[in-house]
Amino acid sequence: MFWIVMFLAQATAVPSQTERGEALFFDAQQGCGSCHALKGKGTAVGPDLTGLGRLGPQAIAMAARSTVTQYVQVAKLKSGESFPAMTGKKDEKAVVLFDLSKNPPEKKEVAPADIASMGNNDVWKHPPVVNKISNEKLADIVAYIKYAATGSKKAVDPEDVK
Ligand code: HEC
Repeated sequence: MFWIVMFLAQATAVPSQTERGEALFFDAQQGCGSCHALKGKGTAVGPDLTGLGRLGPQAIAMAARSTVTQYVQVAKLKSGESFPAMTGKKDEKAVVLFDLSKNPPEKKEVAPADIASMGNNDVWKHPPVVNKISNEKLADIVAYIKYAATGSKKAVDPEDVK
């Protein structure tokens, strides 16, 4: 009996890859969850990653390591203020802009008339690129994304996310 209890205690003490990935994903400092939603958790500033979970580990890793941005733009306001932004909800009265120069990104609501221009992003880089995320960490995170999106507990080899 004693040995069974010891064995169970040890087995639960070592976090699985998906558990490590979840902790990294929601880490307050450089976590993905401060900008991405995944299965209803996290903050939807950047793209929701749930749909990406169906892709292979290499494709997810490549998207996370991409140095090219598709959605981020540089917002210039008539007040003179300028910042890299993800556009959120908008209607005639207000546009939600997430200021990516802040960590976590700051939500701003501006009147469409106060925006001078929205231009190509040449200032903001994706945090996993800036932080040069390691293959080991990214493999854990990719395993968690796949698990959260599809329920798959298949291990992700750091070699596969290079
Ligand atoms: C400061 C906010 C922020 C953080 C932190 C962040 N991301 Fe992102 N991420 C973005 C934004 C914004 C985009 C969209 C960039 C673009 O294409 O314009 C993006 C894009 C992506 C994409 C591509 C999605 C697609 O549909 O094309 C993936 C995958 C991704 N991030 C994964 C991650 C992972 C994994 C982490 C944590 C290691 C992370 N991100 C941390 C903001 C962030």
